[in-house]
Amino acid sequence: MGSLLFLLLVIFPLCNDVAAYCSNGDCMLLNNCTSNDDYGAGLYCFSCTIGFSGSKCVRSSTTDQFKLINNSLPFNKYAYLTTHNAFAIDGKTSQTGVPRVTITNQEDNITQQLHNGVRGLMLDMYDFDGDVWLCHSSQGQCHDYTAFEPAINTLKEIEAFLSANPSEIVTLILEDYVHTQNGLKKVFSDSGLMKFWFPVTNMPETAEIGL
Ligand SMILES: *[C@@H]1O[C@H](CO)[C@@H](O)[C@H](O)[C@H]1NC(C)=O
Ligand SMILES: *[C@@H]1O[C@H](CO)[C@@H](O)[C@H](O)[C@H]1NC(C)=O
Ligand SMILES: *[C@@H]1O[C@H](CO)[C@@H](O)[C@H](O)[C@H]1NC(C)=O
Repeated sequence: MGSLLFLLLVIFPLCNDVAAYCSNGDCMLLNNCTSNDDYGAGLYCFSCTIGFSGSKCVRSSTTDQFKLINNSLPFNKYAYLTTHNAFAIDGKTSQTGVPRVTITNQEDNITQQLHNGVRGLMLDMYDFDGDVWLCHSSQGQCHDYTAFEPAINTLKEIEAFLSANPSEIVTLILEDYVHTQNGLKKVFSDSGLMKFWFPVTNMPETAEIGL
């Protein structure tokens, strides 16, 4: 039963843009929406089976938190739009030659996510094929049918974005299954991202984080 459910989830897309918008012009955030006649500014109509039933008005753009307030607060006092399994992108071509059998979570590629205001990326890193790969897998093991791409490809997209936008802050949240010694260190160095790294030694101690 468990595996049947898994397969059904794989076959049917979980979240879709629907060609429809809020219908009465007064639709507000999270209202139900049905037609494309009228809709509130900055909103669009979205269906996401795992999040809610039907279609709801959701935001179509982000708010820059540093313009909303200013940048005088500590890092942990701001909210950042963050994508779960940022690398698990719909329609991403298999790079292993084996059709992928795992769930996707995003419609936009990493570069698009960053340009759309995403500032936190959740990445699952595994040892695979003699390298570090991003996989949507389980039990710490990446397979050819759960692998998305070598992590360096994604890290290079982030490097390119930060090089073009050096005042932006991007937070990477790693689910780390890499056992190869210095595996992560190597892939981050090779990607060119280290020049943007916030030094671990400058991180506040736990007691300071709430300040
Ligand atoms: C919105 O749509 C959902 C799912 O179709 C339905 O259960 C709910 O009653 C609707 N809410 C309103 C306020 O119409
Ligand atoms: C930043 O915004 C806060 C809250 O509005 C304000 O108290 C503070 O004076 C501002 N700081 C600067 C440097 O503008
Ligand atoms: C991301 O998507 C955009 C828009 O479709 C495309 O132009 C770009 O080449 C893509 N980038 C990567 C790395 O896939």
